[in-house]
Order: sequence, then structure tokens, then C-alpha cells
Amino acid sequence: MKKYKLIGPFSQLISLEEIATKGPIKDEELSIQNNVGILIENEKIYSIGDYTEIKKEAASLDAEIIELQANYVCTPGFVDAHTHICFSGSRARDYAMRNGGKSYLEIAEAGGGIWDTVTQTRKATQQELTYGILKRANTLLKSGITTIEVKSGYGLSVSEELKMLRAIKSANQNLEADLIPTCLAAHMLPKDFDGNHETYLDTISNTLFPILKEENLTNRIDAFIEKSAFLPSDIYLYFRKAKAMGFDITVHADQFSTGGSEVAVQMNAISADHLEASTEDEIALLSNSNVVSVALPGASIGLGCDFTPARKLLDAGGALAIASDWNPGSAPMGDLLTQACILGTFQKLSNAEVLAGITCRASAALNLNDRGRLVTGMLADFNLFRTNHFNEIFYHQGKMTPSQVWKRGDIVYS
Ligand code: NIG
Ligand code: FE
Repeated sequence: MKKYKLIGPFSQLISLEEIATKGPIKDEELSIQNNVGILIENEKIYSIGDYTEIKKEAASLDAEIIELQANYVCTPGFVDAHTHICFSGSRARDYAMRNGGKSYLEIAEAGGGIWDTVTQTRKATQQELTYGILKRANTLLKSGITTIEVKSGYGLSVSEELKMLRAIKSANQNLEADLIPTCLAAHMLPKDFDGNHETYLDTISNTLFPILKEENLTNRIDAFIEKSAFLPSDIYLYFRKAKAMGFDITVHADQFSTGGSEVAVQMNAISADHLEASTEDEIALLSNSNVVSVALPGASIGLGCDFTPARKLLDAGGALAIASDWNPGSAPMGDLLTQACILGTFQKLSNAEVLAGITCRASAALNLNDRGRLVTGMLADFNLFRTNHFNEIFYHQGKMTPSQVWKRGDIVYS
């Protein structure tokens, strides 16, 4: 295998090099490079430039040359910054009941809700969970998603959360895409825990956190802040302990009621995700902070709820990422590009804002600065769409999928 590879020429390449981390983006601001190639050194981008010129450079480096014979648009690899793809079982019954007008409480009383998935996931072996993650992650990879965040949160005890995070680690070792694991032990108070919210969180932080470090299972801690899960007052101490141990913080915030985004800002979290219930106050708070807002249109579609106020967040100067929230309960579809395009139509986002939301701004939501833009030194993660204009990708609302997916300098899907 040669150390250097050249791929091109592309009709259009959208590097996103010049795109700011925050605020609105007009499509006209995108710098679109025509007739260019990408020169790869091992897993990284060595250079990008005019195809005739870069071909000479490639020859001097004795690079392998992969010459395209049709029109392709090249985008950065997509990043899905929020998923729950480690789970077992189906919640199709919840979906039918919800659409039939049943309330959250009625569904929970009938044995549905998050606890149903906890019960199913606890029954699965670590290997079975790994297999499920691989299957779902490979589906995402084929649609151009080269980095996938995956949460625990359906174990809800030290040993079961460990089983989930070990399953994610082992899936990551057997996958072309990168998985970014997150501990969501604070998803709800487990029904079988002999204690209250405070003692549960103490158990997790005192017992689980050190093992997460020891086994290198994750550097991210998440919590679901909601009346049915954990109150802000429950969570501050938990997050403070996590931060003291060097974990990054991310929050399920303002999904049905507010309170979570304030915790995210106070704790200097990397991201605040959901935000469907955020009002002008939370929008101002988030936009004036360094916290990345993550919209989860898949949950709005799955639950039939409002979308995150993405337009207002951007106009207020905020950073907006878009993720799928793929999970068996609120967001069973798991199709990031489709959902991001739908959010774009309802929230009046430019194509550039949608693209940034699933690339460079999504990388920021994971605190990763080595991907999400096509620039020298970044990972060579990119997608080729068989078209001559990037607008076509969004116009087809997810139905145009990449013809080729490249991850860390190798073609992983075509
Ligand atoms: O992000 N909001 C909390 N957690 C998930 C849903 C989990 C479930 O219903 O299984 C979410 O939407
Ligand atoms: Fe979620």
C-alpha cells in the first residue's frame, strides 16, 4: 500500500475551512473549489488543490492515483454527535400508543418508556450489544457518517453500564467509522435501585467513574435533566465530580421543560442537546456561551413535537450542530441527513448551515478538532456524491446517498 494517494478531480469540493464555529452562514459564504483533488498521506489530508497542479505533486511523491471519471461533489465525512445505538429490543408499541393518543404516563404504566429498553438491554450479552452497534453503525457509515457518538444509559447500574460501554469499545475496534462513547448512567433513576436520586448518582460517580478512567471507556459524561429523570439540583454535584476527574460534560437539556441548558452553561458543558422547549431566555444564554447547541430533529419527528429553535439559536449567534438521537424510543429512524434536511425546511436553515451542523459544528459538539473540515492535517474523512452541485444533496432530503465514503484515507464504502 502506498503512503500517498491522490483522488480527484472533483466538480466541487466543500472544505468548510472558512466557516466560523458560531452564527448564521449564508450559502454564498461557502468557498466552493472546482476541479480539485485531495492528496492523502496515510490517514490525513496532505494537500488539496487544483487537479493539474496536485497531480504533479502526487507524481513527485510517487502517489497512487485514483482518477474519477464523472461529476462528484466532495463533502467532509458526516459526524452524528448524539446517538443511543447501543440497545436491545423494539419500542414499536410505544410509538403506536403515542400516536393513538396515549400519554407518557399511560405508556410507562403499560411497561413502555426508557425502562422497557433498560430491561431488554440488560437481558442482552455484551457480544449481542456489540453486534447491534456494528449493524447500526455500518448503516450510518453507508450514508456518509464517519464519526458516531454512542451513549450508554440503558444499563443503569455499575455493571450494566460497564457492559454497554465495553460493548461500544469492542464495536469501535471492529468498525471503519470512529465511535465516540459517552456515559449516560444518569438517564433515569433505575426502578430497582434501593435509594434516591442523590444516592444513585453517588454510587455512579464513586464506583463507575474510576473504572471508566481505568479501562479508558469514555471521557464524556451526560445526564438527562428533566422532571421524569434528574433535576438540576440533583446534577450539579455529579457534574462537578465528573469535571474534577477530567471528563467532558454534555447534557440532555430542555427536551420537555427548561432547566437543562442553564446547567450546561453553568458547568461549561461541551454541548446541550435537544432544546425543543428552549425559550428566548435559554436561546440567549446558550448563544452567549461556548456550549454547542445540538438539535435532534429525529426526536421531534419520532414524538411529534416541536423542532429545536435552530434558526433563532443561529441568529442569536449560537453554534448549532444537528444529530440523529437514534434510539428505540423517541427517534427510531436513525437517518441523519434526512432529518437534518427536514430541520432545514422547517427552520429555514441554509444548506451551508445544515452541512456545518453535521460536519464541523458536530465535531465541535464532540470536542474533536481533527475532523469535520477538509483542510491539510485533518483526517481524510470525506464523501463523494454523484452530482455536479452541492445543492442537489440537500434538495433530495437524504435520498441522495454518497457513492463513495472515505475514512482515514481509505475507501470504506462504494
Ligand atoms: O434523547 N431524552 C432522553 N433520552 C432519549 C430517549 C431515550 C428513550 O426513549 O429510550 C432521547 O430522546
Ligand atoms: Fe438522546
